[in-house]
Amino acid sequence: MAGLSDLRDWIALLEREGELLRIAAPVDPYLEVTEIADRVVKAGGPALLFERPVFADGTSSELPLLINQFGTEKRMCMAFGVDSLDDVAARLADVLELQPPQGLAAKLRGLKTLKSIADSRPKSVRHGACQEIVLEGDDADLGRLPVQTCWPGDAGPFITLPAVITHDPRNGDRNVGMYRMQVLGPRTTAMHWQLHKDGRADYLFSEGRLEVAVALGLDPITAYSASAPLPKHIDELMVAGFLRGAPVELVKGVTVDIEVPANAEIVLEGYVEQGDLAEEGPFGDHTGFYTPAEQFPVFHVTAVTMRRDAIYPSIVVGKPPQEDAWLGKATERIFLPAVRMTLPEIVDYDLPVAGAFHNLCIVSIRKAFPGHARKVMHALWGLGMLSLTKGIVVVDAHVDVHDYNAVMFYAGANVDPKRDIVITEGPLDHLDHAPTLQFLGGKIGIDATAKSPAEGAREWPPEIEMSPEIRALVDRRWSEYGLATVPPAGEPSLRQSSRRLLRR
Ligand SMILES: Cc1cc2nc3c(=O)[nH]c(=O)nc-3n(C[C@H](O)[C@H](O)[C@H](O)COP(=O)(O)O)c2cc1C
Repeated sequence: MAGLSDLRDWIALLEREGELLRIAAPVDPYLEVTEIADRVVKAGGPALLFERPVFADGTSSELPLLINQFGTEKRMCMAFGVDSLDDVAARLADVLELQPPQGLAAKLRGLKTLKSIADSRPKSVRHGACQEIVLEGDDADLGRLPVQTCWPGDAGPFITLPAVITHDPRNGDRNVGMYRMQVLGPRTTAMHWQLHKDGRADYLFSEGRLEVAVALGLDPITAYSASAPLPKHIDELMVAGFLRGAPVELVKGVTVDIEVPANAEIVLEGYVEQGDLAEEGPFGDHTGFYTPAEQFPVFHVTAVTMRRDAIYPSIVVGKPPQEDAWLGKATERIFLPAVRMTLPEIVDYDLPVAGAFHNLCIVSIRKAFPGHARKVMHALWGLGMLSLTKGIVVVDAHVDVHDYNAVMFYAGANVDPKRDIVITEGPLDHLDHAPTLQFLGGKIGIDATAKSPAEGAREWPPEIEMSPEIRALVDRRWSEYGLATVPPAGEPSLRQSSRRLLRR
């Protein structure tokens, strides 16, 4: 495990590995940072630390701005301390698949896993670096932060990488979610928790006032966990502790009865209240379009606490691919074992970045009975945040879901649209602008698996495959043919895997 204790540890690692560039030139958080970050993200470039955020009117923030910390697969793996994001999934699978162990070795392994779960619970500490500076009253001014206005049509500056902490008023369960916050005034922001989100549920269950704390600038795993679509009763900070291999340390807030990550760079403390709403947006969103203005709760800041020399973290979302692509890919990989708990027939799945995560899901299954692909579609449309998926393509087990050409081939070759398309209706992403009604609309499932006569198909023809002996022979003899400049494995130039698309 990476064992990164805070954002500074992470920045130091990025710097040692040549994965971070410091920018000393003054740069305007109004649009200019976005344009730079957008180009660097698309080029697969490094994380950027803007040391001198200066607004056009000459005012500058004392806080440097970090962006693109998550922008490549390599950095996302570094954040988790793994070679592949599937390794993170494997650790979670160990927990999810915990069975009564047989034999001494299995018992010891089981005990180790149980201990790592027990050690994951957040730990309360008395002092936290996040409270080295405490600003209250008029001093608690959000104008001190170099908050970006990302796109020309945005309604104002938005805090884009927060970990918003609330407690369920019914039972005290903690929730941490990543919800953007439009700065409305020196001590107010909007709180953009969407319809289906757990923070919003805490708000709706509250009668009157709900305390909120917002942590900015965390170790990368804890920051990621705020974006993870965990079931409501599961504490994101416990999962972060498990994935880090060390508990998240928490200190009590100064003006709120909420514990906050002790090593956060910045913490905003405050509250939201029933009926206290403001217009939020428009905002250039991860859908690639501006989401229109809507009413969201107003977050009133009661204190801003900070580390000395605090660093402000930011992210730009917009037309994909953007930096959030790898936060989404991490979720896709990490949640595969959990999806398989409900649907063990699933081999793999891919949420294409270009599909903005909720628009398209490709899933491969070990098909065992007529209508199996439809069963999987309907199950996914009932599963957590995957329920908001607009289109699902189901392929057979042998198809690589990350190879979009292969998927396109089977979606063309194996599909009789009259027989194999499912059109239904259900809940849709809050931000989806296409459906006639907000939140509710059509869904499409494409069954691209091979069909049996029991599904109304004629006899299914065999697929063309070269015999293994001839493949082995050609592998062996490749150098003899004088084809040294041609890759021996086939036509990679025609393959468009999800990874290659991301690295565009
Ligand atoms: C960069 C980024 C920004 C996000 N902004 C929002 C947002 O403004 N509102 C929202 O509801 N979800 C947003 N999300 C998605 C949520 O963080 C995600 O659905 C998370 O699971 C919500 O936590 P919850 O399940 O505890 O509600 C964002 C995700 C990322 C990666």
